[in-house]
Amino acid sequence: MHKIYVLGVGPGSSDFLPPVTAQKAAESDVLVGGRRSLALFEDLEKEKIEITGRLDPVIKAINQKREKKKIAVLVSGDTGIYSLLPRLAETFGRYSLEVYPGISAAQYFFARLGLCWHEAVFISLHGRSSDELLQQALTAKRLVVFTDPKHTPALICRELVEAGFVNKKIYLGEDLSYPEERISSGCPEDFTTYEASGLNVMIIDSDLNLKID
Ligand SMILES: C[S@@+](CC[C@H](N)C(=O)[O-])C[C@H]1O[C@@H](n2cnc3c(N)ncnc32)[C@H](O)[C@@H]1O
Repeated sequence: MHKIYVLGVGPGSSDFLPPVTAQKAAESDVLVGGRRSLALFEDLEKEKIEITGRLDPVIKAINQKREKKKIAVLVSGDTGIYSLLPRLAETFGRYSLEVYPGISAAQYFFARLGLCWHEAVFISLHGRSSDELLQQALTAKRLVVFTDPKHTPALICRELVEAGFVNKKIYLGEDLSYPEERISSGCPEDFTTYEASGLNVMIIDSDLNLKID
């Protein structure tokens, strides 16, 4: 039985796709991933399974095909943070997987800001309530928020303002690594009506003196 490759494909641009990841995808028979991840391999003529919603049918398809075919599951950013990795490890066993890390959208964003992330706390709002976010915002020095279509930067900033967290520095990274990339900063009030791209990550920082150009 082949091991299942789990490949972190980075923030989205092929410039940030490690050569080993491209090689493992090229060696595979089947590529499984979201639309953006699969788009990185549009030139490869492989069987492709797009993840659009529920994971159960995707897991079932992997299980059916893995005996005869080499499967690569593509995850956005890095494999180790809010990815499919735990679900795959739980289903197939950790030793059935061969995992190759990628550059997280957050890691890329910190690099673009010239900031470190060793003190950062990470939270994903995918399918969660933003109450947890406010709890973290109370204590974290540097909070990274992976947003989802429901929890937009504007909504999050309105909640921060309503809860009295006005003395925070917000960094917003939209469409990171793509030609349309946009990076901005300000205080929560500056973003309460901001219309962000659907693909964005936020940093809520307690150090108000940090600046970006
Ligand atoms: C489910 S999380 C996965 C995080 C991923 N494992 C990583 O390491 O970046 C997906 C979230 O990452 C953020 N994200 C991923 N790619 C991005 C990009 N190119 N620009 C901005 N944010 C991005 C968005 O907040 C998106 O909702």
